[in-house]
Amino acid sequence: MTAVGIDAVEIRTGRLKLDLPNTFAPAKGEDPGKYTKGLGLNASSFPDSYEDIVTMGANAAHRLMERKGLGPEDIGRIDVATESAFDNSKPVSTYVAGCLEQVYDGNFHHANKGERKFACISGTQSLDDAYNWIKAGRHRGRAALVIATDTALYARDDPGEATQGAGAVAMLITEDPSVVELSTEQGYGSADETDFLKPQQQFPSVDGKRSMQVYLARMREALEDFESVAGDTHPDDYAYIPFHTPFPGMVRKAGLLGFRHMIRDTPVEDEFAEEIGRQPRPEGFDDDEAYEEAVRDYMDALKETEGYRDWYGNTIEPTLSISREVGNWYTGSVHLARASALRHALDNDVDLAGQRLLVGSYGSGAQAEIHAETVVEGWAEEVRAMNVDEQLGARHDLTFEEYESIHDAHNHDKDTDLDPLTSPDGEFAFTGWGRMGERQYEYVE
Ligand code: HMG
Repeated sequence: MTAVGIDAVEIRTGRLKLDLPNTFAPAKGEDPGKYTKGLGLNASSFPDSYEDIVTMGANAAHRLMERKGLGPEDIGRIDVATESAFDNSKPVSTYVAGCLEQVYDGNFHHANKGERKFACISGTQSLDDAYNWIKAGRHRGRAALVIATDTALYARDDPGEATQGAGAVAMLITEDPSVVELSTEQGYGSADETDFLKPQQQFPSVDGKRSMQVYLARMREALEDFESVAGDTHPDDYAYIPFHTPFPGMVRKAGLLGFRHMIRDTPVEDEFAEEIGRQPRPEGFDDDEAYEEAVRDYMDALKETEGYRDWYGNTIEPTLSISREVGNWYTGSVHLARASALRHALDNDVDLAGQRLLVGSYGSGAQAEIHAETVVEGWAEEVRAMNVDEQLGARHDLTFEEYESIHDAHNHDKDTDLDPLTSPDGEFAFTGWGRMGERQYEYVE
């Protein structure tokens, strides 16, 4: 069977940065530890006034195509996943194609374009669409371009304001890929939930605490579903487990829950039992409350064990390094987690080819999806070619007053003109509106 998966990845961050412990926390009168230790975030990325989901997506895709030596004729579909779209009809992928056609001789007239919406999980759903299209043999030897792009902004003073971010991840999906091969097996956990939504509004309505419970419940359901087709999972089966990362503290909770699930009824549980006892089972309790309390106590003890800490440090922690510096990128977030893990492996000379990743995607509303990936030969070269560190280091560090202005500039309900804080340089930039209200873009040399 032909391998299908991710052949190349490019990351494009918004060019501004908000320092959470040193700029945001003091302005809010909060302890910086809430950000660095509690949520696990150091900074958020923001778009400058000439950046948006189109420019970030097109800039990521452009670098990817340049690096891989591709032209428009090599691309058979462009799928954009976003929950920050500004048009209910015309998809962002048409704008991205329009941008790219400014810098290439050919055009994308024979590429299928679309836009996927399901909160953060639509990035992974777009990967799926591309995978299925290639597997079905409808691609005529061409590749799919999947772009996950978002400006994850919350209303000012919403608790979610702490977890904002903006950026794009472009991925090339092909046969015989050079980064990872995707598994055929998938698991889903999906239910009609009202934890986070944007009913015809720019900024989300969020029940933050409930959204965390829903994330964990759906993720557990997806893992059980995945195991029903792929067999039981074991903590040693996966080199890294990249999760959707709204903020690293969320993944701390997901990792613990996943580990407890994976070790149940295995010799690993027996090994831990010598130190902290066996996991509570519902049949051992008279009521749900007592059972749930016993589970909480077990989890508290488990997370302090050396065995769990080692596993977490090796398998989960490396997936969080980019997210800590950029915040939530919604659709791109789980793909940043994969990139962080691969970068960690490269930096530490890990021989990763042939090893597996377990990828946990999530979108509010709500759905979790779990699939496995096998890292393939060529991954190190692809990861070495990414310039994410350079981009993160070059961001303009916002003062709190600048942050307030840039938030206003991106607020659709405010008419704020703001001079850019950085200068576009060899990139696509937003230049204004056309006669039908369309957004316009130019490549700035
Ligand atoms: P909050 O109420 O401002 O924060 O909102 P908190 O008081 O709960 O503190 C956060 C953590 O920091 C807690 O840790 C505190 O204990 C700790 P926990 O108890 O949970 O482990 N803390 C400290 N630690 C050390 N030193 C200190 C300190 N102070 C506090 N000084 C909340 C947090 C997540 C609710 C908020 O940020 C929010 O509403 N975020 C948006 C929603 C969200 O991200 N939900 C995540 C799950 S849903 C999801 O992932 C989907 C999403 O990406 C959207 C989509 O799919 O499209 C959001």
